[in-house]
Amino acid sequence: MAITANHMMKVTTMRANVLDGNTFRSPAIHKANIHSMAIDTAASNTARSAPIGLFDSGVGGLSVYLHLAQQLPNERYIYYADTLNVPYGNRDSEDIEALTLKAIEWLYQQGCKLIVIACNSASAYALDTARKCYPQLPIVGLVPALKPAVLASKSGHVAVLATKATLNGSLLNDVIASFANPNSTVVTKYFDPQLVPWVEAGMPVEDETAQRLRQQLRAFANEGIDQLVLGCTHYPFFKSFLLDEIAQQQLSIQVVDSGQAIAERVKQLLVANQMSATLDNETSTQDLSTINKTNVDIKLPLTFHATKYSDRLSALIERLLGKETVLQYYPE
Ligand code: DGL
Repeated sequence: MAITANHMMKVTTMRANVLDGNTFRSPAIHKANIHSMAIDTAASNTARSAPIGLFDSGVGGLSVYLHLAQQLPNERYIYYADTLNVPYGNRDSEDIEALTLKAIEWLYQQGCKLIVIACNSASAYALDTARKCYPQLPIVGLVPALKPAVLASKSGHVAVLATKATLNGSLLNDVIASFANPNSTVVTKYFDPQLVPWVEAGMPVEDETAQRLRQQLRAFANEGIDQLVLGCTHYPFFKSFLLDEIAQQQLSIQVVDSGQAIAERVKQLLVANQMSATLDNETSTQDLSTINKTNVDIKLPLTFHATKYSDRLSALIERLLGKETVLQYYPE
């Protein structure tokens, strides 16, 4: 049976009621107390074995998943890709908020113990509302890693590469106002609407998007920019392309992204809420050999749900994640 968040909430509520009775130490209550310990353990085990939910407009959030899987290898993950509506970056704020809340509700219904909005654009317009809608559920959002870039910059000039939505959103602009400006750091915002579709298409190097990126790196260097923030979760997939270009063109630019920091934050939250998976959760090699693409097996490390499937999609995911990663597709 799939564990749902509703089940988890029911168990937690029962536990709270029983524990309230503990104040009176009558024999009857003592019995209830023993019962409460059993429920307590059950609630804790349920929470620990529940999956972590990840959401992005497309495959970009898999760059965050790779950091999570490395830091938290015993966890299970359910990924929701809104491939029907990607890209989000050019959409208006109401549209992004509505699509994001739909994704979060879906992940909530799968019983996720924590959700990562692995999309800067979605976080910019829906993080606050999502947290209000699901007050018991830890929800982690993304904002471009501008702070470490400001701290590392020697030239006092950094660039943020992100979608139009993220660049206009208040999450990033608050960091500019509260951190970059007081540190006298100039922030150049750069937006190329073709970057997300380029990643979704598998980043062909002969594409003119690749050529534009090469030229843009040179332009950044000419402006004195020494830190380039990848403010969209799709972009770390072309980080090695950027680093190769930077080396070839002998530019002095460092590339920064948020994946590692997000994985650390998730780990902190799981520990603080006593929800980390135990070793029993670990998927054995034997489990992996039984995988097929139609039945959901909650023991799998990564279950992938897309709002629109294509033949290209599975090849792309496998390429982005690397050969060893095992995942299962979860059709609606
Ligand atoms: N990965 C999303 C982000 O971090 C991409 C947005 C889009 O779909 O345009 O912003």
